[in-house]
Amino acid sequence: MDDQLTFDTGIDFDTGIDFDTGIDFDTGIGIDNAPPDAAPAANLGGSAHGHWEDVYRDRGPAQVSWFQPEPQPSLDLIRAHDAQGRGSVIDVGGGASPLAARLIETGFDDVTVLDVSEHALQQARAAAEHQPGADKIHWVHADLLAWRPDRTWRLWHDRAVFHFLTNPEDRAAYLAALHRALEPGGVVVLGTFAPDGPTHCSGLPVARYDADQLAAELGADFTPLLSHTDRHHTPAGAEQPFTWIAARRA
Ligand SMILES: C[S@@+](CC[C@H](N)C(=O)[O-])C[C@H]1O[C@@H](n2cnc3c(N)ncnc32)[C@H](O)[C@@H]1O
Repeated sequence: MDDQLTFDTGIDFDTGIDFDTGIDFDTGIGIDNAPPDAAPAANLGGSAHGHWEDVYRDRGPAQVSWFQPEPQPSLDLIRAHDAQGRGSVIDVGGGASPLAARLIETGFDDVTVLDVSEHALQQARAAAEHQPGADKIHWVHADLLAWRPDRTWRLWHDRAVFHFLTNPEDRAAYLAALHRALEPGGVVVLGTFAPDGPTHCSGLPVARYDADQLAAELGADFTPLLSHTDRHHTPAGAEQPFTWIAARRA
């Protein structure tokens, strides 16, 4: 698949972030359910933890290019596979997204958010804490690529995380986590930049995918159910084409 991906290091859409790799990884101060085996990431352009902590420490939830006041594409795709909210959902790299809170509002009662940034999880938790049912959201502070889940979920959601994995080893680690965490018969909902999307995000290079490429990345164990593209409008007014795919695990 590598030869099908597009990498372009010549353009940077978002240069305003300090890169500080000197922060100690913290497995759970103030965050419930932190796994004991969380470990520092040596990927995503250096220290994933340091980079993303800087991003969320320096900016509020609505000041990042990926902010959505309503995560509508994600909600629509998740509800397409679980209209009643009966199954469990994990939002990997969920950051400060309101997705988990919205899922609880619409009837889900087993929602987990995992992120390598503790600041991001604190922002999301603070935004959700006065909402009825907020205690049903589980917060996991961990590096996805080193994570060993102690349970499984019915649906795995990822918006704008997989596309940061620009080397095959990191993509293999991601897929290993997906296989450990997703129930057989469960559904993965994955959104990445489309082939005509940005080449960088948050100062990091990204890979861009069409639906066939995402299906190929997921591998033969997953059957594609649907795919589509949408255009995210950043708070600064830029348009970012996304590819979405939903696929069921055998
Ligand atoms: C572009 S943001 C998207 C956030 C969220 N999914 C959304 O749509 O608003 C990428 C997110 O992935 C998280 N992330 C990056 N690398 C990670 C890793 N190795 N493990 C867990 N989370 C990671 C970042 O902290 C950040 O919150």
